[in-house]
Amino acid sequence: MNIWSKVSPSEKSKYIYRIARLMQERARELAIIETLDSGKVIRESRDIDIPLACNHFFYYAGWTDKLQYAFPNKKVSPLGVVGQIIPWNFPLLMAAWKIAPALAAGNTVVLKPAETTSLTALKLAEIIRDSGLPDGVVNIVTGYGDTGAELVNHYDINKIAFTGSTTVGKIIQKSISGSDKKVTLELGGKSANIILEDAPIDQAVEGIINGIFFNQGHVCCAGSRLFVQESIYDIIIKKLKRRIDKLIIGDPLDKNTDIGAINSKEQLNTINNYINIGKSEGSKIFQSSYKLPNKGYYCAPTIFTDVSQSNRIFQEEIFGPVLTIQTFRTIDEVIKKANNSPYGLAAGVWSDKGSRVFNLSSKLRAGVVWANTYNKFDPTSPFGGYKESGFGREGGLHGLSPYINLK
Ligand code: NAI
Ligand code: MG
Repeated sequence: MNIWSKVSPSEKSKYIYRIARLMQERARELAIIETLDSGKVIRESRDIDIPLACNHFFYYAGWTDKLQYAFPNKKVSPLGVVGQIIPWNFPLLMAAWKIAPALAAGNTVVLKPAETTSLTALKLAEIIRDSGLPDGVVNIVTGYGDTGAELVNHYDINKIAFTGSTTVGKIIQKSISGSDKKVTLELGGKSANIILEDAPIDQAVEGIINGIFFNQGHVCCAGSRLFVQESIYDIIIKKLKRRIDKLIIGDPLDKNTDIGAINSKEQLNTINNYINIGKSEGSKIFQSSYKLPNKGYYCAPTIFTDVSQSNRIFQEEIFGPVLTIQTFRTIDEVIKKANNSPYGLAAGVWSDKGSRVFNLSSKLRAGVVWANTYNKFDPTSPFGGYKESGFGREGGLHGLSPYINLK
């Protein structure tokens, strides 16, 4: 077994806490690098991504000496070497989601960041080195998909944790079948955001905006399918359009910017392609009239109405600031519509009535259901999906299980 697995639980804690504290000390630097590298707005890097990444290390640091209590009457041991492959939408945060529980459970790590966003992972490697963690416990390897594939197929790897596209998730599952490698996959989504007629209207409009435009819509759990109850449809659409038109799009480093840059030219092409598909499918488009910068990759916040369930823009993950909108009359109808998706990662429900929220959240096939909020994350809370959104959970005690052997 590796040297890390032999370090005592309380010593392990100290290292992981030290990493968290060093990240906090360098939070400003990390936020700026993240924004420069990914195109996400500085307000989000500074107030959401980086603090949450630190919190993951703080949270999992506390688990090292409690594993025996968490899994009573079992002998808990680490898996060994875990390979971790992450995407470009939340570079440092995804690295933290992956590395912190793996370390707390006593594993060593080889992590591959996405090819367009490797910088904060490399900065994290520096921080981890400065924390004094023994050499070789955390390893960061940069590269394209072929490097990821090498990791997946390497005979010394005991487990693969992957976040990214459903296409690559399926390739990984095929490659490891027949081996004794373990795997967890956090894949795409097309999540429903449901506004009931008794919802607080202005809050719901903010929730719609945050649900789909947060991080330019590069969010696996983005609320990309909006369902509005018929009686409040007109008012919601009117307010939503007015709000969209006020969003500031541009320089990600400017503190006033609401919508930053699209991560890559490739992704912008994908999004624009879907916008064209939406138009050709006959849906009605509305886009923000804010003038986009003429340099860099930008996409105007976009909504589609008159969308049908069979439309590609309703079924497929766009991973950009593009929202499809449908109406519904009854609760049963919206449950059917919302569950009509190959994905099942998240959902949002907006209502003043607890019983309605409870009813809906128990019937929606989604790993996470938010009530009167959206895109809220916390290290104590498990996150993950059903169906083609993958399997395995990250966060909380659930997030430790995929990194341990139980006897
Ligand atoms: P991707 O799945 O190709 O990339 C994610 C990570 O997997 C990157 O680190 C990449 O280098 C690695 N990778 C690529 N091919 C691999 C292979 N054969 N074996 C092992 N690792 C491999 O995602 P991509 O191409 O950047 O985006 C395509 C679409 O995927 C997006 O438009 C979006 O719909 C979806 N996506 C979903 C994400 C999520 O969080 N659910 C994150 C990123 C993309
Ligand atoms: Mg790809």
